[in-house]
Amino acid sequence: MPPIKVCIVGSGNWGSAIAKIIGKNIQKSNRFDPVIKMWVFEELINGRKLTEIINQEHENVKYLPGHKLPPNVVAVPDPVEAASGADILIFVIPHQFIPKICDQLVGKVKSGTIGISLIKGVDESPEGLKLISDIIREKLKIEVSVLMGANIANEVAEEKFCETTIGCKNPNSGKIFKELMQTPNFRVSVVDDCDTVEICGALKNIVAVGAGFCDGLGFGDNTKAAVIRLGLMEMIAFSKLFCKGSVAINTFLESCGIADLITTCYGGRNRKVAEAFARGGKTLEELEKELLNGQKLQGPLTSAEVYKILKQKNIVNKFPLFVSVYQICYEGKSVKDFITCLQNHPEHV
Ligand SMILES: NC(=O)c1ccc[n+]([C@@H]2O[C@H](COP(=O)([O-])OP(=O)(O)OC[C@H]3O[C@@H](n4cnc5c(N)ncnc54)[C@H](O)[C@@H]3O)[C@@H](O)[C@H]2O)c1
Repeated sequence: MPPIKVCIVGSGNWGSAIAKIIGKNIQKSNRFDPVIKMWVFEELINGRKLTEIINQEHENVKYLPGHKLPPNVVAVPDPVEAASGADILIFVIPHQFIPKICDQLVGKVKSGTIGISLIKGVDESPEGLKLISDIIREKLKIEVSVLMGANIANEVAEEKFCETTIGCKNPNSGKIFKELMQTPNFRVSVVDDCDTVEICGALKNIVAVGAGFCDGLGFGDNTKAAVIRLGLMEMIAFSKLFCKGSVAINTFLESCGIADLITTCYGGRNRKVAEAFARGGKTLEELEKELLNGQKLQGPLTSAEVYKILKQKNIVNKFPLFVSVYQICYEGKSVKDFITCLQNHPEHV
């Protein structure tokens, strides 16, 4: 069997952390080609190209500073060149950029290539919800699995113990992905309920924005716990309404479900920016620039996509948490009204 070639499409905070894991795992295995190409959206850092810095210093100084990448991870600025000949494509870029990058790769991907998306987000289409994995699948005509979990990239890069969930319908692909990504401190479960795994990863970012509002408004841990629980109930209800396949409640007990929700509501970037927003004085765009150093905020954008779908189906009143996050982020509703929205939650009537 020829060695399996792997390409990582993306090189932000999470892309670089997963590159560190895969780069090391591949060095220990003879099933994989030892070189991993990583597509890097080129930018200049103090006048130097980011790809050049990564290839010479083996560090993504902008998105994962302080962590050396294994030298077999090679940064490539052209996505077509990076993906050329790859048997496995790992997609890990902010979700708003996925249609464009897939368009660039159409017709350039080897037949039989398998993909896995680590992207947390959803899109909307005239028919309603569109999963990011569906966009990749439709554009590139390849099998696509997903990986989601309680995985704050910096902690994963520091090799602090955590778990993750792979949603994969093909057991052979599931085994390969597990071999590629599992380490003693990054434990992988594989389930076949792919759509639920993926939708959890997107929706939890909306709940995290709500959790950040509560922090900024000075509420305590009881309130945060209520937001997490109500958020989880809305995530389950939304999944049941919009997933194409069946929705297993057990999937919400995996790392991609409750665990990711908790970590994001305590530690993630969406929570952090929402807390600063609730303290007042600055817009979300200003805070994203100021606090995230080029990283992208996902929760508000996902709330807008979800809101459009709920509005279209005339069921906004069933999802007060998702809807009020959207209205506060985009329609000028006062952040102080966030709790009022929750006081009339369908869970309590
Ligand atoms: N960071 C985490 O802790 C974490 C953990 C799990 C999942 N995720 C998910 O992984 C995905 C990628 O997030 P990340 O943290 O790696 O990225 P990031 O937010 O750290 O970085 C932004 C990335 O987007 C790239 N970029 C900027 N402008 C671009 C453009 N016009 N076109 C294409 N790319 C552009 C940048 O080069 C950079 O690589 C997201 O869906 C996120 O939700 C992140």
